[in-house]
Amino acid sequence: MASAAERRELLRAVYHEARGCVACKLHETRTNVVFGAGNADAELMFVGEAPGANEDLQGLPFVGQAGRLLAQLLEEIGMVRDDVFIANTLKCRPPGNRDPYPHELDACRHFLDRQLELIEPTMVCTLGNFATKLLRGEPTGISRIHGQAEVRAIGPRTVRLYPLYHPAAALYTPSTLAMLREDFHRIPEILALGPPAPAVEPAPPVPPPTLAAEQDQLGLF
Ligand code: URA
Repeated sequence: MASAAERRELLRAVYHEARGCVACKLHETRTNVVFGAGNADAELMFVGEAPGANEDLQGLPFVGQAGRLLAQLLEEIGMVRDDVFIANTLKCRPPGNRDPYPHELDACRHFLDRQLELIEPTMVCTLGNFATKLLRGEPTGISRIHGQAEVRAIGPRTVRLYPLYHPAAALYTPSTLAMLREDFHRIPEILALGPPAPAVEPAPPVPPPTLAAEQDQLGLF
């Protein structure tokens, strides 16, 4: 098993790989790759959608208005940005802040999986529909499952997955902000549960006994 220092070094290597990534067309319009930032040993990781204009310019996630709300909510639960790791489904900004395309999410996914593998969070909060659908691998929308923690295998890790509304969606809609805040305030109690047991593969179905085996059990042979 890799030590914390080794994992940090490997994460740095993934960051350098991402900085040179040309796997999709977003590399043509980006100013900076926004790899993610925070504590490389964090228990708690946030996954947003994609960098916006401010993030693209600074190379850091959630540094605009939505980021300020995220920082405020963290403060309300006694945490700061440096306690957690913040990443996105896409590491480059889609022009004009359009939605990510499926082929872009596919091309970028391996970076997120490597981040999860190396940071080893026990809890992952998905922010908004894109991250939630991507990491759950299901189309269920955020309005149906926000605030419902579940144990999920995500790529290489089993984590407590906790879908939340995206802070940007809460900026101008007080009812969404109220739901986001209520869900957010439950993070400490879910974190306190500690690492989940690895998801158990369902046992393969037991084949029906063959006639010979049945006869065996009956002692006929
Ligand atoms: N919105 C996101 O989803 N990610 C960011 O980094 C900033 C805004």
